Amino acid sequence: MNPTIVSFVYLVAAILFILGIKGLTKPKTAVRGNTLSALGMLIAVVVTLLDSSIVNFNFIIAGVLVGGLIGAVMALKIQMTSMPQMVALLNGFGGGASLTIALAEYYSKLGQAPASFAEILTPVVADANAFGQGVEGTIALVSIGLTVLIGALTLTGSFVAFAKLQELMKKSYGLPGGPIGNAIFLLAAIGAVVMLALNPGNTLAMVSIVGLALLLGLFLVMPIGGADMPVVIALLNSYSGIAAALAGFILGNTVLIVAGSLVGTSGLILTQIMCVAMNRSLANVLFGKMAAGGEVVDADEIYAGKVTSAQPDEVALMLEMAQRVVIVPGYGMAMAQAQHAVRELADAMEAKGAEVEYGIHPVAGRMPGHMNVLLAEAEVPYDKLVEMDRINPTFEDTDVVIIIGANDVTNPMARESEGSPIYGMPILNVDKAKNVVVIKRSLSPGFAGLPNPLFAMDHTLMVYGDGKKAVIEMTTALNQA
Ligand code: TAP
Repeated sequence: MNPTIVSFVYLVAAILFILGIKGLTKPKTAVRGNTLSALGMLIAVVVTLLDSSIVNFNFIIAGVLVGGLIGAVMALKIQMTSMPQMVALLNGFGGGASLTIALAEYYSKLGQAPASFAEILTPVVADANAFGQGVEGTIALVSIGLTVLIGALTLTGSFVAFAKLQELMKKSYGLPGGPIGNAIFLLAAIGAVVMLALNPGNTLAMVSIVGLALLLGLFLVMPIGGADMPVVIALLNSYSGIAAALAGFILGNTVLIVAGSLVGTSGLILTQIMCVAMNRSLANVLFGKMAAGGEVVDADEIYAGKVTSAQPDEVALMLEMAQRVVIVPGYGMAMAQAQHAVRELADAMEAKGAEVEYGIHPVAGRMPGHMNVLLAEAEVPYDKLVEMDRINPTFEDTDVVIIIGANDVTNPMARESEGSPIYGMPILNVDKAKNVVVIKRSLSPGFAGLPNPLFAMDHTLMVYGDGKKAVIEMTTALNQA
């Protein structure tokens, strides 16, 4: 195919990716954004197949059929609550694909595909110019080495993330040296990349990069707690993009460089947004638990004799009179799968003349957009989901806030208590509302492990029970009132 046409079509595909990502920034344009990106990918794949010197279409067709079938079944079967695991697996496959591309390119340029395991390890005398002359050759080898390193690390790291989220791996393990041990592994792997760049035939260096990076992926993710996995997954997503971009350099494929860079940077931005919204540094997520130390807060001291509980039908009486209600969902709503019940409660309140909105905290739940996705599944209109900065000034004029399975994102200690590990995390100022109703099963803490003084405030009512059951009971009582 004419190279100018190929470059032009790749440019069109790249523009579609960028427009697609832009569309994904708002719920209203998200579906269109997704379609544009998918179209860009289709165009890129078709042109690549028509352009490149394809050796054998049989394997490609078989791969498309088998992979497409597995992907379709997974997409249809996956539960919304298991989405983070699915993303983790797909990141891992992305890293694995870049790894195999780099290995295939390396051995094909060496001109000696290993026929046995022993041959993989046998250094060969490579043609000095096999990877290009001078600086060009060095860049090609460094690209191959780094693609292998990042691709392999992403592969095993993502599989560990999957295992943790699927609760297949419940304990945390790591290198005895912790971050220092990991740093030594990383430096050794980078050293092997340098050795490869100095001597292309040093297959031992290549095997070392693969081995060290596969182990590094395991050691990096194994010590991190399950609840921090969403941040790790965003980071691994970014790594898989970087590996793809580097693979694009190896193959001289511009659209792969653009697509990989987009994934790499958007993953990093998402990681940063999550860390800022949790008021934690990336180092703290990767190497530690929630900010250590701080004041030791005694839950009994906060709650003793001060917590008032209520039954769903008592709350319904209050809701009947309310003119403005804000619903604040959290991780517990996802656990209870209460989103449909919540929407029915909102419908019932609106039928009684109340204005109902949803206050969405950026890290409510356990993955970015967790609450938005669940509420969209229950067909709650997008314009009723109000983000933290816009809903906060409205709480003073709100008659009732109903908190369903949210805890940390409403904890006033983040605003007021300087010694607290969550001090500085922006929260939903629900305590400013006239009445607060909290639905959860007990006074147990949330992800941060802290008591919540909100539960002991004079204008707060605790409704103990499973989120879905309590909300359904409230709706029934309201409809009968
Ligand atoms: P959390 O603070 O984790 O609190 C969730 C509450 O839900 C728990 O206190 C629990 O109390 C309750 N719950 C659990 N199952 C329930 C059920 N079936 N019915 C009713 N309630 C139930 O949640 P949040 O307020 O959404 O805050 C999210 C936390 O996760 C933040 O600390 C955030 O930093 C962290 N985090 C978020 C992300 C992202 S990207 N969203 C990533 C990593 C970490 P009971 O046991 O008493 O019922």
